[in-house]
Amino acid sequence: MECKLKVPVHVSIIMDGNGRWAEQRGKERFYGHSEGVESVRACTAAAEKEGVKYLSLFAFSEENWNRPENEVSSLMELMLDSLQQECRDLCKNGVRLLILGNRSRLSDRLNSVIDNVVAKTSGNTGITLIIFMSYSGKWDILQAAKKFAEDYAGGLGSELSQMETGGFDKYLVTSGIPDPDLIIRTSGEERMSNYLLWQGAYSELLFVDTLWPDFREAEFHKALVEYSKRDRRYGNHK
Ligand code: FPP
Repeated sequence: MECKLKVPVHVSIIMDGNGRWAEQRGKERFYGHSEGVESVRACTAAAEKEGVKYLSLFAFSEENWNRPENEVSSLMELMLDSLQQECRDLCKNGVRLLILGNRSRLSDRLNSVIDNVVAKTSGNTGITLIIFMSYSGKWDILQAAKKFAEDYAGGLGSELSQMETGGFDKYLVTSGIPDPDLIIRTSGEERMSNYLLWQGAYSELLFVDTLWPDFREAEFHKALVEYSKRDRRYGNHK
């Protein structure tokens, strides 16, 4: 018998395995990325249906810039096309979109499409879909520390000795967003890969063998069933 489903407020996914999925089919890696967009759609719909409030996806890391130039540029094109194509459906489905990461490394064209879609969906009241682009956890902590140092030097910071972790949260790009309850990584790899290092401090971690292009509604539901069995103690005891 299935135990009662505990629905996390925030589910985050490290989407991995697109390349292997394509290679298994004798296709170019890009084919896997483009099929991965279908999984983004499917998981957003599944998350909304299950009652999840925030779904965040690690789409492109700071380290991914080191991939061969043709893969980077085709991923950027895919992002741009997908955002343009999905804008209408995101609005129809009440999805609020946020794109977080080191936006200074993205092209002007992509940044302007992002600004447009984010603005158009900003009033939507359904699920919040967060795409991490050019993001890394260490980068986020460092940019937060720099902003804090500027505030502090300008006299805006709180008394340093009184500062608590909650006071630092607001400098991270995820300010105002609850920390992920569950972080899923697909494709059998079991690493955080410089993802939400601060925000994931107490996230439940789930590593599944499914490659990202195969991770759809049924897999999403199975992940929530697995999450429901976890006992979250935050360092305390029963
Ligand atoms: C990891 O698989 C996947 C990526 C680096 C890209 C993920 C991006 C998408 C699915 C497109 C997202 C689009 C939108 C609009 C959010 P990998 O290439 O590392 O696969 P491998 O480990 O099998 O080589």
